[in-house]
Amino acid sequence: MAYQWDSSLETGYDKVDNQHKQLVAALNAIIEASRNGKGSDEIFKTLDFLTGYTIMHFADEEKLQIKYDYPDYLIHKRYHDEFKVTVGELTRRLVKEGPSEEMVNTVTTAIGDWLLNHIKGDDFRMAAYVKAKDLEQE
Ligand SMILES: [Fe+2]
Ligand SMILES: [Fe+2]
Repeated sequence: MAYQWDSSLETGYDKVDNQHKQLVAALNAIIEASRNGKGSDEIFKTLDFLTGYTIMHFADEEKLQIKYDYPDYLIHKRYHDEFKVTVGELTRRLVKEGPSEEMVNTVTTAIGDWLLNHIKGDDFRMAAYVKAKDLEQE
């Protein structure tokens, strides 16, 4: 199942939302590469891109939280850090077992479910806070 972007994923903070859209697109690129029978090179290339983009996105969110003294910064950062470890483990598993359609499905589902869940919970709370702070500073 490819992931669909819809308004239920919009935090209302544009920069964060645009990056989330890119994350969903990157995740779908892996799923499509696998479905279209692209070789493992293409699958690992798309997964590499997603990993790099995720790291960049987390760093941006963390900077935003530091800028505005977000009270839940430490716990939010810990969730990001744990997920980075999980993605590393999933990637190693994919390398070891080979990127069969089934394995790619397992990996993308694990990544996608975590991301959507995180966006709808932790990121929504963060976005509401930083948006209010942005307005205070205008
Ligand atoms: Fe996020
Ligand atoms: Fe986050």
